Amino acid sequence: MTFDLPDLEAMRAFGERIAELLRPGDVVELSGTLGTGKTTLSRAILRAMGHEGEVPSPTFTIIESYDHLQPPVVHADFYRLAHPSEAEQLGLDDYRDGSVLLAEWPDHAGGFAHEADCLSITLEIRGQGRLAVVEGGAGWQERMP
Ligand SMILES: Nc1ncnc2c1ncn2[C@@H]1O[C@H](COP(=O)(O)OP(=O)(O)O)[C@@H](O)[C@H]1O
Ligand SMILES: [Mg+2]
Repeated sequence: MTFDLPDLEAMRAFGERIAELLRPGDVVELSGTLGTGKTTLSRAILRAMGHEGEVPSPTFTIIESYDHLQPPVVHADFYRLAHPSEAEQLGLDDYRDGSVLLAEWPDHAGGFAHEADCLSITLEIRGQGRLAVVEGGAGWQERMP
């Protein structure tokens, strides 16, 4: 399934649609090269879930937790991992317990598409805007419009 996201307003609305569907245990894979909007979409999802403060890019911290949200959200950027096993060493499983994971550069953490509750989003540049290619695991089939 593909979605045209011509501007930031479209990105915000797209984040809202995703946020409404999220459940604990989900992972949203955010793929696409630098500058395609992975952090922008993460922010849109977090805002739609009720987060009002800043959303720092987890480029350097790798993992940022938003425990006050329902469900809680873990926002990660795995770009800097040298090996997928480092995700485990960071305690990712503990962070994820009962939470939703928003994962930028998921392939650097070994990928999550084998999980039934994984929603894979790949962002591409289309002119001034973006195109989102979306694929859901078994747990998303009845949730996708
Ligand atoms: N749908 C969109 N249309 C136009 N510009 C966008 C869109 N989504 C994101 N951007 C812009 O793209 C730039 C990079 O976004 P960012 O989320 O930091 O990318 P990434 O996390 O993938 O590296 C930002 O300046 C952002 O405003
Ligand atoms: Mg980013």
